[in-house]
Amino acid sequence: MFRFCFCAVLPLCTSMFAAELPPTHTDESKVPAYTLPDPLIFQNGQKVETVKQWTEQRRAEIFKLFEENVYGRSPRNNGKFAAVKMITECPEAGPAFNGKAVRYQFALTFYTGERPAADSPVVDFLLYVPKVKSDTDKFPVFLGLNFQGNHTTTNDPEVLLRRNWNRDTGKYVLAKEEERGLAERRWCYEKAVERGYAVGTAHCWAFEPDFNGGRKLGVRRLMDKDGEELAAEETNTLGTWAWGLTKLLDAVCEQNKEGTLRQIDTSKAAVFGHSRLGKASLWAGAIEPRFAMVISNDSGCGGAALSRRAFGETVARINTVFPHWFCGNFKKYNGKEGELPVDQHELIALIAPRPVYVASASEDLWADPKGEFLSALNADPVYRLLGTEGFGNVKEQPGVNQSVGGRIRYHLREGKHDIVEFDWLQYFDFAERYL
Ligand code: GCU
Repeated sequence: MFRFCFCAVLPLCTSMFAAELPPTHTDESKVPAYTLPDPLIFQNGQKVETVKQWTEQRRAEIFKLFEENVYGRSPRNNGKFAAVKMITECPEAGPAFNGKAVRYQFALTFYTGERPAADSPVVDFLLYVPKVKSDTDKFPVFLGLNFQGNHTTTNDPEVLLRRNWNRDTGKYVLAKEEERGLAERRWCYEKAVERGYAVGTAHCWAFEPDFNGGRKLGVRRLMDKDGEELAAEETNTLGTWAWGLTKLLDAVCEQNKEGTLRQIDTSKAAVFGHSRLGKASLWAGAIEPRFAMVISNDSGCGGAALSRRAFGETVARINTVFPHWFCGNFKKYNGKEGELPVDQHELIALIAPRPVYVASASEDLWADPKGEFLSALNADPVYRLLGTEGFGNVKEQPGVNQSVGGRIRYHLREGKHDIVEFDWLQYFDFAERYL
């Protein structure tokens, strides 16, 4: 009897769940006809003809459209976050990777008012810096968030097991020894320091836990008034992570001035991210001009991929499964991508003329590799207007494992949705050339 009920009910549940999810496909023949908004045409139809018009007017117009319709007004711009202060402490510094690097572990405490409270949000920030060989050594720095905690990004036994979020209880727990190094293959610290780059990371959940309602538990809780509804153009989790990336840069700059990190060249800071964190890194590049280089690894929908192609993950799908990522207004475009006043090539254009790298993976159809490539391609006219070589002579999506372009660069790595050594090596080469 039990068996009968179970078998009868299960397919029903699955189909009910499936029915609630907006459908998706990865069939190129189903991509609708679309026209992309032209980054070099003002909303009133006038053409952008000069660098000045772009820099002083059109960029701001596009930026505002992204704020209002996609990512939300950044915490740093909405007037509330202005009051949030940050204290940077460095409880641990020591040699790493057989003396090739120095490991710094900072604690960033966020608070409002006079001083931090016992429950003020704290973000642990891990930074590896190449060992200084001469007094004049200056290293560029890569900054990016991680998915599961700093201790998961390396097997380095000295990385502190600090606070980590437990999704089930909504509380901090102590990170566990058995989690150490779980994501190590996604991080290339040792190669980075060998090549002369510092790399820093923090857990994205420390800024804001990644679930609907996480807003009340992360740094944004400092700004929320009790029971206040989030306005439709207010930023959400992705925007908070992007803001968090700017705080990592603040911490580096502050410690650089104070002398602890005097060996970092803060004018050479690259922001990077994989997948949802790649979406955040692109937006961080748009909101923060101090990021001198921006890297998007398999960022897909709401990242580098064109929304209008609706290939793989769509606007409706992402807003349904992750309702807390984008601002409320983005939901207006569920199934209506053609009505978006911007598309993702213009997000890349907001980064111009700074170097930007868009990377895809051949089996990662969910993130629409072709749509990611087309974004890079369609940002090119803005890079050219600003006097750079943009995407170089690239017109067609390259075959696998070829890095192509100029100041806009692209590759389609063979394989799955991931960030692996091949990707990192391209980023290091790119930085060597353009950062
Ligand atoms: C899901 C989501 C993507 C996201 C990815 C990730 O697949 O649909 O939008 O990029 O998770 O962050 O790994």
